[in-house]
Amino acid sequence: MEDSELLANRIVQEVYEKGFSLTDGILDTASQHTLLKMMEDLIPHFKQASIGHQQDKQTNAEIRKDKIYWLSEDENLYRQSIGLFLPHLITGLNRRCFLGINAQEFMAAVYSPGDFYKKHRDAFRDSDARKITVILYLNPNWKTGDGGELVLHLPDKAPLIITPLGGRLLVFESILEHEVLASHTNRYSITGWLKQTELVV
Ligand code: OGA
Ligand code: NI
Repeated sequence: MEDSELLANRIVQEVYEKGFSLTDGILDTASQHTLLKMMEDLIPHFKQASIGHQQDKQTNAEIRKDKIYWLSEDENLYRQSIGLFLPHLITGLNRRCFLGINAQEFMAAVYSPGDFYKKHRDAFRDSDARKITVILYLNPNWKTGDGGELVLHLPDKAPLIITPLGGRLLVFESILEHEVLASHTNRYSITGWLKQTELVV
């Protein structure tokens, strides 16, 4: 992996300039397989994902079909992946983009064959706490035809189709619309959000 501070600075600059950043080779193949094994061991704990939050929360299989497992920061799956570079990324985003990020949430997500997630934004209607979406894909053997591509809709640009290749890191502004096309195989990722939460005094 590129020095994590240099990596973070480059990602921050790209997000600042164009709203997203894509980096390949964040993890070598051996670490991808280790993380994938950890994720497979957690599968019994995965739950059907929901849409919206608080009063709005509902599961809706016509919109979203993946299963998720929320990760705590001391979980090995988190520490050996996102945790390796996230502190630098948050510092950089706050310095360069004044996002005031003071919270985060990460989950492991699996799409089984046939699963998808229709076009949506990650920032909720009644709360804009989510500022930045971070996704690390863990599919070392992904090949054309496996599906599960993420389509990122950029304002005034052609949609960007991003394949969920193992070791690929995608960071984008949570207000951007995106969707996950139907996966034809098991598709694994660690996905999360950098948030600015309100201070209640
Ligand atoms: C999400 C999402 C995209 C992906 O979980 O909100 O859009 O590529 N995930 O897994
Ligand atoms: Ni999303």
